[in-house]
Amino acid sequence: MSLQKAVFPPIVAVFNHKGGVAKTTTAGNLAACLAALGYRVVLADLDAQGNATGSFGILPLPPIGAMDVITGRVPLDQALVPTAFPGLSLLPATTQLRTAELELAAHERSHQALREAFASQSIASHADIVIIDCPPSLGTITGNALAAAAAVLLPARPDPYSHEGLVNTWHEIKRLRQTANASLNVAGILLTMTGDDPTGGDVERSMRAEFGDQVYAHSIESDPKVTEAAQLGVPVAVLDPDGGAGAGYLLACEELVTRLRRHARHDVQPLAEPASHGDALNTLRDWRARLPGLQRRANQSPAWTAVQAANEDAFTPQPPPQTRPEKTGFGWPALIAALILGMAMGAAAMRFLG
Ligand SMILES: Nc1ncnc2c1ncn2[C@@H]1O[C@H](COP(=O)(O)OP(=O)(O)OP(=O)(O)O)[C@@H](O)[C@H]1O
Ligand SMILES: [Mg+2]
Repeated sequence: MSLQKAVFPPIVAVFNHKGGVAKTTTAGNLAACLAALGYRVVLADLDAQGNATGSFGILPLPPIGAMDVITGRVPLDQALVPTAFPGLSLLPATTQLRTAELELAAHERSHQALREAFASQSIASHADIVIIDCPPSLGTITGNALAAAAAVLLPARPDPYSHEGLVNTWHEIKRLRQTANASLNVAGILLTMTGDDPTGGDVERSMRAEFGDQVYAHSIESDPKVTEAAQLGVPVAVLDPDGGAGAGYLLACEELVTRLRRHARHDVQPLAEPASHGDALNTLRDWRARLPGLQRRANQSPAWTAVQAANEDAFTPQPPPQTRPEKTGFGWPALIAALILGMAMGAAAMRFLG
């Protein structure tokens, strides 16, 4: 299909030039919340670190993924990996993303490779919405994400350094609009990890004053459950849908949907009306209740807490164990040694008696 005629689902790139501002956490949680709101979602992990892929418990990184689709080596449907959450699939990162800059440099229109791949692979038949987790730099891969995207969402921490990073990122997006994607919208600035910096309140106020409505009304508070969720390989919105960061992500996700539905574009499929807040919340709670490893954690007594903390690995998604022959109490080598010893003792006894 030609690029001019192609119709895309809304593609949202989650980007900020600055590292560690919760891009990956935001991408994974928004993807899960969008699925809970009833959409078919593809979460594309374009960061060679593979954190979005790992945050769904997919480790080590699979052999086939985003880079194979971008370069046209593998069809999209063969690269997509289903998740435990109905409606949400992952286009995983692979180690090839580490050399993507070099590989894409040979591509005639190196910034358009992802958009062309999504068009030729009919991404719209796989997803109502695509979320892209970008690396923390504006190289060729992020350039591809922003050239394919209808909108970019900027997570930002309300601290003085992040504020400076946000201003730089804002200018880079403006520049990219002139070169690669004139119709790229900003899907807003989402404040993350709020409440853990004493100056955070002041910085937040000045960000809201400077960027106005671009800043989401709901922010994501700093919450230890986020780290716990990452270790368990589930989004915090599923692990703790009623808690601080978990609840914040569903509210922010609904805000994102409202913003996307407001900006109609001829080459972007409109988003259908989402499920209600209550229904989406119940879906997230239901997913949590169905996760077998997590179920064991529910209703745990204080005595069990200490035991389970010591055995944390039992709840961490692990690669399948190597199959080993089951150990019996008395292995083969020991049995053979006992037989030889027995025979030697028997012979010695015969000689002694004879
Ligand atoms: N709301 C939160 N509360 C507490 N910790 C958080 C929260 N959000 C993210 N974190 C933690 O902050 C760290 C950075 O988050 P994340 O990996 O999502 O950032 P990033 O912007 O994707 O980083 P990078 O630039 O390296 O890709 C992670 O350890 C994550 O678990
Ligand atoms: Mg990241």
